[in-house]
Amino acid sequence: MYHAPVLLPESLDGLRIRPDGVYVDATFGGGGHAAPILNRLGDKGRLYAFDQDADAQANADNVIFSEHAGFHFVHSNFRYLKRQLRAAGVRPGTVDGILADLGVSSHQLDTPDRGFSYRFDAPLDMRMNAADEKSAAEVLNTYSAEDLQRLFSAYGEVRNARTLALACVAFREKSRFQSTADLLGVCEANLIGERWRYLSQVFQALRIEVNDEMGALTDFLNDATEMLSKGGRLVIITYHSLEDRPVKNWFKTGNIEGEVQQDFYGNIERPFKLINKKPIEARPEEVQQNPRARSAKLRIAEKQN
Ligand SMILES: C[S@@+](CC[C@H](N)C(=O)[O-])C[C@H]1O[C@@H](n2cnc3c(N)ncnc32)[C@H](O)[C@@H]1O
Repeated sequence: MYHAPVLLPESLDGLRIRPDGVYVDATFGGGGHAAPILNRLGDKGRLYAFDQDADAQANADNVIFSEHAGFHFVHSNFRYLKRQLRAAGVRPGTVDGILADLGVSSHQLDTPDRGFSYRFDAPLDMRMNAADEKSAAEVLNTYSAEDLQRLFSAYGEVRNARTLALACVAFREKSRFQSTADLLGVCEANLIGERWRYLSQVFQALRIEVNDEMGALTDFLNDATEMLSKGGRLVIITYHSLEDRPVKNWFKTGNIEGEVQQDFYGNIERPFKLINKKPIEARPEEVQQNPRARSAKLRIAEKQN
């Protein structure tokens, strides 16, 4: 299976789908969320599905999607949401619901030659979009020790980020990073705590850097806010606190820092109404069937005006 959708009924409820509405699935993947959204749409409804990965695009050829006149696949980074939707004739302020199920798919993690997982020996790639220029190998071979430390610390919360960064620089003085085995060797010599946790943190940090995931999320939140209609719903599933924090802040204040904004008269400006104050998490039964759901947090907000 390409990917098992996480928090599916809860996300669909959050979108509050109208049969003739306009919806966006910003992270199509295997279409696990998109298919049931499309099922709820009538002839006039439209679904724009984004994914930057060409492997995900192949799933859009499935009859469920190709036979619905209202389905449109957009092979693009979701950070260009507004530009792409405008090019497709969708005006700002007219979208009824936007879903983003962030991060990587099981397919990406389980395909050895994508280089996302420390479980396989593979080229250090980690690009979601194969047309992007920067791979994980390039990051490891060209970044300064300070920059490597910054990303291991900020994106992986690696406790000995400086030690690991210096070990990477020492490695490349003799050789070049090419495969996950190269990185594993450096990590094994420096790991602290549980092996799987340490390796997951390092690989996550590199993946976030390679795909500029934090930058893309910020651009997406801006564009999504502009594209939604009054009463439109923004539904976001995150998998770690680095993603969840900016989303939570955005929903509360309209900026990723979470700074409360006031207008000229001192009225607090809130672009969204929170539908759930606390994030929705997967029930134990779902986690048992799909361990990936364990860290998922679902937040739903409604555009106020
Ligand atoms: C967690 S999976 C989504 C799975 C999907 N909801 C399903 O149930 O089949 C995330 C997907 O979003 C895509 N993705 C991640 N970041 C993206 C971005 N900035 N722009 C476009 N697609 C992105 C990935 O390529 C991946 O296919």
